[in-house]
Formats: sequence, C-alpha cells, structure tokens
Amino acid sequence: MSKLDSADIIEGQRQDWNRVAGGWEKWDWFFDEQMAFLNHRLVADARLRAGMQVLDLGSGTGYPALLDARTVGPNGSVVGVDLAERMLAVARRKATVLGLSNVTFCTGDATTLPWDANSFDAVTSRFCLMFLPEIPKAAAEIARVLRPGGWVATAVWSAPERNPSIGLSMETIKQVVDLPPPDPTAPGIFRLAKPGDLSGIMQQAGMVDVTDQEFWAEWSYASAEDYYTSLMEIAAPVQNLMAKLSDAQKQEVKHRITRAALKYRRGNSITFPLAVRMVAARKPL
Ligand SMILES: C[S@@+](CC[C@H](N)C(=O)[O-])C[C@H]1O[C@@H](n2cnc3c(N)ncnc32)[C@H](O)[C@@H]1O
Repeated sequence: MSKLDSADIIEGQRQDWNRVAGGWEKWDWFFDEQMAFLNHRLVADARLRAGMQVLDLGSGTGYPALLDARTVGPNGSVVGVDLAERMLAVARRKATVLGLSNVTFCTGDATTLPWDANSFDAVTSRFCLMFLPEIPKAAAEIARVLRPGGWVATAVWSAPERNPSIGLSMETIKQVVDLPPPDPTAPGIFRLAKPGDLSGIMQQAGMVDVTDQEFWAEWSYASAEDYYTSLMEIAAPVQNLMAKLSDAQKQEVKHRITRAALKYRRGNSITFPLAVRMVAARKPL
C-alpha cells in the first residue's frame, strides 16, 4: 500500500469515528453492560498487575483503557491512543466520573507511536487493528514499545457468519443495492477475522508465545428497533454503506434488517451470538 493510500485511509477513519462519537456516548451504557467481559479478558491476556505502565491502542470511548487503569491502580498508568479526538473526549469524561487519575488519552496513529523502545509493560487493543492500512507496521511498533517479556492482548471481530449482528446488516444492504464485493485485504471490520492472520503478523514482528482463539459469547438488545438504531448510530462502516442509498432504499433496508433481527428473538430480547478473535503475544525476554 502506498504512503498516500495509507494517509487517505487514516484520514477517512479519523472522520468516520469522530462522526459517530455522539452515538457511542449515547449507547455507552449498553456496550458497558453487554461487552465488559471482553475488557476483563484483555486485562487477563495482557497479564496486567498493579503498578504497570500500559498502552491501549484505538481506545475510542475508553475500552479497555479504563479497566486497564483500575487494574494497574494508582502506582501504574495507562495511555490510550486513538485517531478520533471526539471519541477520546467521551473517554476522558468517563475517566473523570470514575475518579481515575492514572489514565490519559492522546490522539495519534497506532502505526507511528511517539514513545521510546521498551516504554510499556503491556499493550491492549479492542476492535481497532483491523481498521489499519498497515497492520504489520503497527505490530512492529507494539513489539518496539513493549519492554522485553511484556504482553500484548488484542480483540478483533471474527467471521461475519458468526457475527450476525454485523453481518446481517451488510448482507441486507447488499440485497437492496448493488455493491462491489469487498476487497478482503482492505481495512474493515472483518479484515482480521481469519485464524492465523493477526497471530501470523505478530510472529513476523518477532513476538513469541502467540495465542489465537475464537471466543464465543452473546449480546442482547431490548428490541429489534434498538438494535437497528444503535447500529446506525455507532457503526461507522455501516453508516458509510447506508450513505450510498436513496431514502426509499434506506426505509427498505430498515424494514429488512429489523425483520431479520427478529429471528434472534429469545424471550423479551434480541440475542445475537458473537465471535471475537483474541490474539495475545509476548515480546521475547
Ligand atoms: C470500533 S472502535 C473501538 C473503540 C474501543 N477500543 C472499543 O472497543 O469500544 C475503533 C477505534 O479505532 C480507532 N482507530 C482506527 N484506526 C486507528 C489508527 N490508525 N490509530 C489509532 N486509532 C485508530 C478509531 O478512531 C475508533 O475509535
């Protein structure tokens, strides 16, 4: 990928995530309720302990940086990096409400980190790395800034067929409008879904003890309507696809997505399976 393409993609990502920051703040309570277990899993995979210095890449509205900060305690510290200033503004507000003074957030690109080699005891990252145009470069940066023996723990989305809450929206939009098939090598939600992709990149960056596991869970929305609204308000890639549709096509997509979501009704809620690829690795001693 040329430098120019990368710069364009990064600028597009910055704009996309700044645009949906208000939606993330609105739905924050929901993601906190439904996805906190992933933060705990990342904290465990990164082997976080009191007093550690931690870097979180693509923190968005503070996941898992805020749990990292609680875990390392007052003698430790966490820096969260993200392209999107408006997402970080939400994260900062949440840190203040939680009374966490050992976490800071700064804008930046995960592929060019401004810290010296061996600056951090651990690195975490949730749902960010697949959006990068140059993932191997980010892995090399992670390997550089980690101290020898330090762990990186990452979560990325696994395959669309095992993540219907995302996959069905994409499929439904494709039923209504002709879209070119996505380039599997282009940055996007499912770019790192395949086993071995991210773990292979970590190995190439010189990391050892690499693990790569598909982790299954579920999440529940109160209604199909809630599911549709939150999807449209937080999922920047889905918003980008919707922007290509006429008003009539948007209505048709809404009708089809909410109807398809009803297949996942269980009791009073809509419960989707989800599958996340958890990749962890250690910098050699
Ligand atoms: C789906 S959000 C995830 C946010 C948060 N980690 C979470 O799990 O809720 C993806 C985040 O990655 C950030 N991001 C995308 N490309 C990035 C890059 N090259 N460097 C840093 N952050 C990036 C976006 O700005 C966005 O906030």
